Amino acid sequence: MPSDRSFYITTPIYYPSDLPHIGHGYTTVAADTLARWHRQAGDDTWMLTGTDEHGQKMLRAAAANGVGPQEWVDKLVNESWIPLLKTLDVANDDYIRTTQPRHEERVRQFVADIHDRGFIYQGEYEALYCVGCEEFKPESEIVMGTGEFEGVPVCAIHSKPLELLKEQNYFFKLSEFQKKLLKLYADNPDFVQPESARNEVVSFVKRGLKDLSISRSSFDWGIKVPWDESHIIYVWVDALLNYVTAIGYGVDEAEFERRWPATHIVGKDILRFHAVIWPAMLMAAGVEVPHQVFAHGWLLVGGEKMSKSKLTGIAPNEITDTFGSDAFRYYFLSAIDFGQDGSFSWEDMSARYQSELANGFGNLASRTIAMIEKYFAGKVPEPTEYQDADLAIQRLVASAARSADASIEKLEIHDAIKSIWAIVDELNGYITENEPWALAKSEDSRPRLATVLYTVAEGLRALAVLLSPVIPKATAKLWAALGAPGTVQEQPIREAGNWGQSKPGSVVTSIPPLFPRIESAEGEA
Ligand code: ME8
Ligand code: MG
Repeated sequence: MPSDRSFYITTPIYYPSDLPHIGHGYTTVAADTLARWHRQAGDDTWMLTGTDEHGQKMLRAAAANGVGPQEWVDKLVNESWIPLLKTLDVANDDYIRTTQPRHEERVRQFVADIHDRGFIYQGEYEALYCVGCEEFKPESEIVMGTGEFEGVPVCAIHSKPLELLKEQNYFFKLSEFQKKLLKLYADNPDFVQPESARNEVVSFVKRGLKDLSISRSSFDWGIKVPWDESHIIYVWVDALLNYVTAIGYGVDEAEFERRWPATHIVGKDILRFHAVIWPAMLMAAGVEVPHQVFAHGWLLVGGEKMSKSKLTGIAPNEITDTFGSDAFRYYFLSAIDFGQDGSFSWEDMSARYQSELANGFGNLASRTIAMIEKYFAGKVPEPTEYQDADLAIQRLVASAARSADASIEKLEIHDAIKSIWAIVDELNGYITENEPWALAKSEDSRPRLATVLYTVAEGLRALAVLLSPVIPKATAKLWAALGAPGTVQEQPIREAGNWGQSKPGSVVTSIPPLFPRIESAEGEA
């Protein structure tokens, strides 16, 4: 059933000055999986990702490499960031770069609008700035450095010294939005999720808001302030606006109406920008606030937030070269509760690959197809009379499909996968209990054998549809191997639990293992 629901989902736009690591990959595959689910449900879906290309960090990185900033970002974006999407099998609908004219023009327009509406004034500013965060740091986020930076105030996130900046700046009257924001959070408990993120934001805003410096004049890699070209727009104001400039804000009203408001997926490091500053900017301009801001947790490596600046960054292709993109997607989305921090380790990755993907799911698919080939000449048999055990599988498939959809609605991706995976485990148990190889020994039990193998094939059909947003490649192969019509991605996901969609007589084809054994991973310490 196609729905008339619109679903617009975004990732943060990443700073291309760092090379992509698995943290960026994690956010992106989470958003992609949600987008694929909604697309497959027939919702009018749009997924946006992109890169945040202005700011001091970019300018310095370019200078350090002896090239101009535009040349530098073009190289990074084309050589590393756009290829990341293919590495992770991401089906984004658009990719925005903040250096594109479609963005720059609309940012100037937006900032001019809130200026005209009286939300911007000029003032003097002196504060400690972290170039890593591209943010003036409040007292609470400054700590004393250690080691190389002993005795010097450093950023709590980047552990690098802060810079004292004193400038004539333009300010956004963020302080005027405290009441309105608190009302927004109170009226829409789901606006910020999960609960821990919501609580943090509410108590932050309750403590009071300071006006926000939104321009810089000491360097010029950015979008010029429309009424004063000696200033550029603060990189975060520029960046946040990507979510509306990409869907035609101010130029294509129909497209904007169709897509907005968005569900924003972000890491908790940038929660406040999205849940406090961003809705306030939109309120100031008289634009509807986002539908939701969901902050996921951090990937930890050796107990610390993984980051390129701390040299703990792992490139996504280090994982996909060995395990493939499906395994990357499956691992991060199932092993970590979406919203919580999670530790990455190669041992855990290898162990889950082996037990869940190779032995659990992959083997279920291979042996089912092999048995249909062997006992029914490769044709999906017609079921005869259903018994209790078969009906239990049918009920499980229906309820798993329902609960998975409900979990996706709450962005609880890990719970959705858990519900679906119960089908894998139950089908494997069902095969063991019903022993098709024993039923195959006598003509009398052939009707029963037909029902058992139909039940497993039909369970696999449902699994292929339900898992396709998570592991698109393996499920596409399985779909073809089952001799099912069309593509798995066009199967309506909200109907996946309806029993009996597999056609008896469909011709199956044996395929190489969906998740082959990885020899090198076996010996991993
Ligand atoms: O902040 N664990 O860009 P950025 C999980 N340009 N996710 C992680 C992570 C980790 N260890 N490290 C990074 C910016 N991420 C701005 C955003 S949006 C208008 C502008 C992910 O390149 C996570 O999504 O520093 C985090 O929020 C994002 O990368 C930060 O990316
Ligand atoms: Mg960052």
